[in-house]
Amino acid sequence: MKGKRDNPMSKHNANVRLPRAKGIDMATVYTPKECAVKVKHFLLPERNHNIVAEFLAILGMREVFEEHGVPIPNKVVMYGPPGTGKTLTAFYMAKMLDLPLILVRLDAIIHSHLGETGSNIRKIFDYARSYPCVLFLDEFDALARTRESNDEVKEMARAVNTLLQCLDDFGDKSIFMAATNLEKELDRAIWRRFDTKMTYELPDDQSRQLYMERLIGPFAREEGILADACEQLAGCSFADIEQIMLKAKRKAIIEHKPLHKKHVSASYQEYQPAVM
Ligand SMILES: Nc1ncnc2c1ncn2[C@@H]1O[C@H](COP(=O)(O)OP(=O)(O)O)[C@@H](O)[C@H]1O
Ligand SMILES: [Mg+2]
Repeated sequence: MKGKRDNPMSKHNANVRLPRAKGIDMATVYTPKECAVKVKHFLLPERNHNIVAEFLAILGMREVFEEHGVPIPNKVVMYGPPGTGKTLTAFYMAKMLDLPLILVRLDAIIHSHLGETGSNIRKIFDYARSYPCVLFLDEFDALARTRESNDEVKEMARAVNTLLQCLDDFGDKSIFMAATNLEKELDRAIWRRFDTKMTYELPDDQSRQLYMERLIGPFAREEGILADACEQLAGCSFADIEQIMLKAKRKAIIEHKPLHKKHVSASYQEYQPAVM
């Protein structure tokens, strides 16, 4: 592998300023190092892991693909329930590619004035095109809803058209990633623009167990707690599991006791996850 210091892509873009709207930056920029910190406990289920691995392998062979005249993929859409690792995947991708992650702030982009939202979308895409990076749009459905099914029909139709144009003009230096919980409501034309699609699901028994094991780590525990907790937290997202296990650890710490299944069940009761 190429040394990180040699990678011209890792250079931060000092020449172009982040566009602003409503008095704030339209995005938050994370360095690859900051991204690496975020994905410390990341657990990517096998199917998505394979998709990501292939994606990274292709990007590592850019020249070969150019020789063959085969376009490289660079538009990823991720969908599935909240708290299953979509956002983390964007951080992971940026870390693996050693590129900065540009996390778009929807609150800055979406504007009540007609045309303003579209113009903001264009600005942030132009910015992301100006140097290699991962541009990430979370809660993508807020911008890319079907043109018919929207209340603010005109404004959104215009924004969706702008988005389509921006996706077509994006080039292949940067990566575009989008996440949504509402894939059925995405505009079909937008949907077709993505070359890579990943579904996210709530953790199954095996991933739940693995994740809990990681979260407990070297913390002292009663025997058999993992099996019990695993059963109790069935149907929880990774994000729920994390919150519940943290709560349980806090309870154990203030009692000066090893982690016990009653800590987990009390935390579960208090946290009340929206189990699906
Ligand atoms: N697959 C996963 N592996 C490890 N932790 C996860 C995973 N999915 C979610 N989490 C935890 O939940 C939090 C929210 O996850 P996030 O990636 O934002 O979910 P989503 O974008 O799917 O709603 C993360 O910061 C992490 O603590
Ligand atoms: Mg998210």
